Amino acid sequence: MDIAPSILTADFTELGQVLDEAIDAGITWVHLDVMDGNWVVNKTITFGPAVVRSIRERLGEDVFIDCHLMITNAEETWEQYADAGANLIIAHIEAIEDPEEIIDEIRRAGKEVGLVLNPDTDVGEVLPYLADLDLVLVMSVVPGKGGQSFMPEVEDKVRRLRSKIDHQVANGGRRTKLMIDGGVKANNAKLVSSWGVDIAVVGSGLINKAGSIKDNLEEITSSL
Ligand code: DX5
Ligand code: ZN
Repeated sequence: MDIAPSILTADFTELGQVLDEAIDAGITWVHLDVMDGNWVVNKTITFGPAVVRSIRERLGEDVFIDCHLMITNAEETWEQYADAGANLIIAHIEAIEDPEEIIDEIRRAGKEVGLVLNPDTDVGEVLPYLADLDLVLVMSVVPGKGGQSFMPEVEDKVRRLRSKIDHQVANGGRRTKLMIDGGVKANNAKLVSSWGVDIAVVGSGLINKAGSIKDNLEEITSSL
């Protein structure tokens, strides 16, 4: 299982150094949480395309960047994140009206496309689109902030997606990646890995005052 850092718990005045530290530790994928002050329950704002662009410029082209859009108007604005340098755009199934259309548009723009579901959203909502997705993301916290507790009840959903994707691949279909996001740390990374997750987003478990990103990452990877 690969680890992608979320930067929500970083000191934003030191974002460049934090990202450099993550890259030095061996990270090759960065997860950027975009919130618009409207869609998430706590109505908070994180950052928009300008920050995504600066991060892309800082990291160069070799690092994979996904934008997790927790916004009301993803269908109208996803292109701003694509233009800013995201490799993969992830839209919430609960926030879009026409999944087929946005999947098609993002792909035609030459970007990878993913859908994400909230902890209380039925997995059946994304299954009709699975064959067309580069990635499916299961939220293991209610979106809105870093540092929340992991919700183990998403296990069934993750396992169901793993088996659907394996079936899809066995039939010559797309190898859709399976990601989990929220509350993953050294104490539960092995568990989510055993469910068949390909990539775990880790925010506060990596970027915290207790240890360096390198040490925290090593603790997680050696636990797997
Ligand atoms: C939640 C975000 C996450 C999250 C990850 O809304 O999508 O990416 O902050 O942070 P931790 O690992 O601290 O839960
Ligand atoms: Zn996220």
